[in-house]
Amino acid sequence: MRYYFAPMEGITGYLFRNAHHTFFPHIDKYFTPFLSPNQSRKFHTREERDILPENNAGILLVPQLLTNRAEAFLWAADKLSDLGYQEINLNLGCPSATVVSKGKGAGFLAQPERLEAFLDQIFSGTDLRISIKTRVGLETPEEFSRLLEIFNRFPLEELIVHPRVQKDFYRKPVHMECLQEAVEKSKNPICYNGDLFRIQDIECLKDHFSSISAVMLGRGLLANPGLVEMASGHEVFTKQTLRNFHDLLFEGYRSQLFGDRSVLFKMKELWFYLGALFSDSAKCQKAIRKAEQLSSYEAAVRVLFETKELSFSEELPFACGDFPLHSFY
Ligand SMILES: Cc1cc2nc3c(=O)[nH]c(=O)nc-3n(C[C@H](O)[C@H](O)[C@H](O)COP(=O)(O)O)c2cc1C
Repeated sequence: MRYYFAPMEGITGYLFRNAHHTFFPHIDKYFTPFLSPNQSRKFHTREERDILPENNAGILLVPQLLTNRAEAFLWAADKLSDLGYQEINLNLGCPSATVVSKGKGAGFLAQPERLEAFLDQIFSGTDLRISIKTRVGLETPEEFSRLLEIFNRFPLEELIVHPRVQKDFYRKPVHMECLQEAVEKSKNPICYNGDLFRIQDIECLKDHFSSISAVMLGRGLLANPGLVEMASGHEVFTKQTLRNFHDLLFEGYRSQLFGDRSVLFKMKELWFYLGALFSDSAKCQKAIRKAEQLSSYEAAVRVLFETKELSFSEELPFACGDFPLHSFY
């Protein structure tokens, strides 16, 4: 099984990827959060920094593009090719209202003819390998069959399926019947993404879909940065490893971000996911959430690491449904 780290806007930027890769080196591919090539034919400074090869040394990175304009995609493809990238990912999954209303991300799925014409243009316009990360529709999972027919016309590097529709956002149950359909009918290799939070979720997926050879994990890896090491039989990491990961990330944000508030925001967002790794730690986590200065933040984190232990519980880390495959068959 190959394991990919999902792109997560605002979280999995290059500082995060580097810190993660330093201490948890068994991810097969990282994806950048989406880059939005626009009419000005320029990446934003933040985007540019995220894809610079020197900021991603030793990491297999696939840049992700969010656009519905073939000329913008092809401009970005050229630029990425010049930087040495050989694969690009197209985002057909972003559910945010502002993106969808412009017909991008999951919004593009509602215009199958336009999408097909766009794919025709980009596949004939670049030699780079192209993968797609998609939801299964905008409104209903019934839309997926038609989309799959379209994807089958093109030689994708892989089709990464997050089997929710746009309206489901990230909480509603995933539509495993769409994954089944993808596995049966796709001419392209399938990578599964969605709600893999624990080792047993990954095992369950493997048991039911033995032909799937790649999975992409997002929130599961934020909640347990060593989940892939554990699932692929590597040594279980120690509290010290997690501490080192945290410290490297914290240092990175301190040196790159403007203002303590931005650093605190980023670190608190991380703890929203990571907190569940420590048993009996509600009080410590509250102290982290309440910290308004870097010094009080550091003190709260120190207490947590010194007094609490890691627990790889079978409980789900967030308020979301059980992984549906456990009851699918
Ligand atoms: C905060 C956040 C940011 C995200 N940003 C992106 C993004 O930039 N590109 C993308 O394709 N998906 C993005 N996603 C979706 C994830 O890549 C992934 O598909 C989703 O979280 C489901 O996988 P999971 O259940 O393993 O987390 C984002 C999700 C979250 C929660």
